[in-house]
Amino acid sequence: MPAQANKHFLEAVVNLSETQDIALSEDVYSEKGVKLLARGAKVSPAMYAKIISHKLVKPIEVCIAAGDPPSGAMLVRIAEQVLEELPLLASICNWSQGRVNPVGMLSKCKFSASAGTLLAVAFSRSEHAARHAVMTSLIAMGIGNAYRYNDSQLMAAMCLGGLFHDVGELYVDPAVLGGAKLTATQWMSYASHPIIGAALAREVCGFDTTTQRAILEHHEYADGFGYPRSLRAQAISPAGRILALAEILSALVQKPAAFSRIDIALKIMPGEHEPELVTLVNELLREGRSAKPEKIETLEHDVNANVHSVFLRIADVLTVYDDLVAKSSTTSPAVKTILDEAFDRFAEVQKAFASTGVTSLPMLDGKLEGDELDESRFEAHCVFNEIAWRLQKLSRELVLKAGKMGENDSRALLRMANALAGTAEHEATIEESSNVAVEPS
Ligand SMILES: [Fe+2]
Ligand SMILES: [Fe+2]
Repeated sequence: MPAQANKHFLEAVVNLSETQDIALSEDVYSEKGVKLLARGAKVSPAMYAKIISHKLVKPIEVCIAAGDPPSGAMLVRIAEQVLEELPLLASICNWSQGRVNPVGMLSKCKFSASAGTLLAVAFSRSEHAARHAVMTSLIAMGIGNAYRYNDSQLMAAMCLGGLFHDVGELYVDPAVLGGAKLTATQWMSYASHPIIGAALAREVCGFDTTTQRAILEHHEYADGFGYPRSLRAQAISPAGRILALAEILSALVQKPAAFSRIDIALKIMPGEHEPELVTLVNELLREGRSAKPEKIETLEHDVNANVHSVFLRIADVLTVYDDLVAKSSTTSPAVKTILDEAFDRFAEVQKAFASTGVTSLPMLDGKLEGDELDESRFEAHCVFNEIAWRLQKLSRELVLKAGKMGENDSRALLRMANALAGTAEHEATIEESSNVAVEPS
């Protein structure tokens, strides 16, 4: 961890100190050996300036202890609430047949002072942050159970990795986290949160390497279109692969008609997640679905307009790609390679879009009514969101690559990124999972 406290993290600590005691667990020294604060002192807003203006001998993260960090009992309370609300979540967390009880694992969680404080600060951001962490942990343990329940190291990594996977977000400007649209620079800053989270897991929490990697890889996808390192398939650890899938599912599982949404999300781009894991999730979900059929919502928006907008975006990408290839002598060979890879991926997304048959659904409008009409519109809506989400992901990937290149090369990649995102200036939404990037028009 850096010798100087992170501004955003420290602000979050100070905010929490207004509702919960946070004491210094040891003396705090500046890098020059000056004692700044004494052990036992309570963190207060007045301390902020003193801490932020010095490089410290020890990171502030390991010198503070929250008075009331999340306990096993508190985690169980949140878990029981979400399991009660979301029957599909309960299906994924099925732990019969000698498997590990995910809620039981949460109940046994005991954190060091530094780890507990970190989690307390992360949970204090919002009720959603705490629920999301617990749900991701439950789902990861549920999939882990079906995958290798007797691998205790993996199961512990699922439990802790789920709870702590987004702690790196504490180090990102809240304006970035709260923004509906991000600039390229903001997106690059957000994309660092898994790296920061893994460093915190190692240096502040003392978690093992399986858990550290799970946190580092919780936005990596098997097809290489994740971040921060764009790892592929087996280069991602088993714990990382499961956590990435759990992260996606934790957003989808709380939406209306979650089964249908998850079904489409998992089918639309084969290769995004490890096939064995997808099969396991499908098995768990099928058992849950048969218990209670779900109600498909009636959508009021115009499916034709949504499908049309995807077609326009596809046409724009094709034009921009052709133009950039024609001008490839003005950019470095690396740009051409990146563009070709992106175009191959884009072609896969296009193929997935065509294969869903959604392009023919608008024609059915007017001929269908009642439940059949609702179902066809709902399916088109899910497909549209999933496709738009993949184009957005591909766009972000190019933005991250553009950030590492010279100005001319960067401009070319950003142009392609803009076309993929369907924006004139590059912007990216920060939503982490599918089905949320684009709202119906
Ligand atoms: Fe997350
Ligand atoms: Fe994340």
